Amino acid sequence: MKKYSVDSLAPGMAFSKNVYIGNNNLLVNAKMPLKVKDIENLHKWNITEVESEGELIETKINTASGKKIFPDVIKLYKNIMENKKKVEDTYSDLLNKIRMIFSKIKSSNYLDDSKLSEVIDVLIHEVEKRKPLYLTQILRGAHNDYLYSHSLNTTIVSLIMGIELQFPQEKLSELAKAALLHNVGMLFLPILITTSSSKFSKKEFLIIKKHPLLGYKVLYNDLKTSIKVADASLSHHENFDGTGYPRGLQGYDIDEYPRIIAFGDMYSSLIVDKEYRNKFNPYFALREIMALNNIKFGPNLMRVFVSSFSLYPIGTFVRLNNNVIGVVVDCNDEYKLRPIVKMLFNQNSDNVGTNNVIINLLDEKKLFIKEVIVDEELEKKVQNEI
Ligand SMILES: [Fe+2]
Repeated sequence: MKKYSVDSLAPGMAFSKNVYIGNNNLLVNAKMPLKVKDIENLHKWNITEVESEGELIETKINTASGKKIFPDVIKLYKNIMENKKKVEDTYSDLLNKIRMIFSKIKSSNYLDDSKLSEVIDVLIHEVEKRKPLYLTQILRGAHNDYLYSHSLNTTIVSLIMGIELQFPQEKLSELAKAALLHNVGMLFLPILITTSSSKFSKKEFLIIKKHPLLGYKVLYNDLKTSIKVADASLSHHENFDGTGYPRGLQGYDIDEYPRIIAFGDMYSSLIVDKEYRNKFNPYFALREIMALNNIKFGPNLMRVFVSSFSLYPIGTFVRLNNNVIGVVVDCNDEYKLRPIVKMLFNQNSDNVGTNNVIINLLDEKKLFIKEVIVDEELEKKVQNEI
């Protein structure tokens, strides 16, 4: 008899011969797919292995809870889980470094270039290697120090776009520097206004509107950055149609860096709670940005933004046409409407808990995403499972 670890089992799997638990207790007959309940019971009974003389065979059954399982997708999901902690740690380490860099800028007008380069090198390497995980990481809610996490999140989004645009390494570094420092002017405004998550009053907004020019002056005059980095601070609130500030620039008169950074700036701001509105889930954040195509962003970079993200970004809750509820755990780059979904509830609304039921919509042609679900409680409950 061969032994199979319970961790490697998933609903829908079947074996060519009967499957037994320990002393020849039959778990499931040959060629019969395992059900969610079978696996739940094994966990409940603390059984770690099952036995069979047969091999694992691929099988398709009609219940959603037993959709065909693809070992490569399970491997991919396990890989995501393993790397999640690593990404969390790196993210919080980067956040600390950014906090220190900013505090030196504020207290002594000094830019620690070597620390900044360290942050940038790690970021480029990490985003190139683990883009989906970083997209998920930035969705993990507001941090106490919004200015730092906002700068980091904006940079992650900007880098994703820069990579999609196939920027060479040097240009990626400059873009990252510009993105990390784009809001540096905020450091010199009253902290009560810059840290508030309420809607700005007219008077407060007039003060906030000073940060691009203030940032430009600090970066270019005091910290001696390149003009392109300083300009990204000056121009990141300009709009493609000329309605932005401070100069009301239009179209391609706005440099490429601030136009890229504006995507990160807006995305990063939409995905956190504010006092006057709830955070947008990634799908709706993307839609909100797409709706501002002609006003704020312009067509060329919008294409890059949409293609480097996904219509159903990782972390989006979806309902499939067979009523299964799941969360998007990875994307199929060429097929944005058909991501990879981890099932949370089967079509009978049973919670499938920690069982790894993964549905690759690229292979499941009869299934499609019927709707995006916005459910904060659900989100909180499963956030740690993604
Ligand atoms: Fe800004």
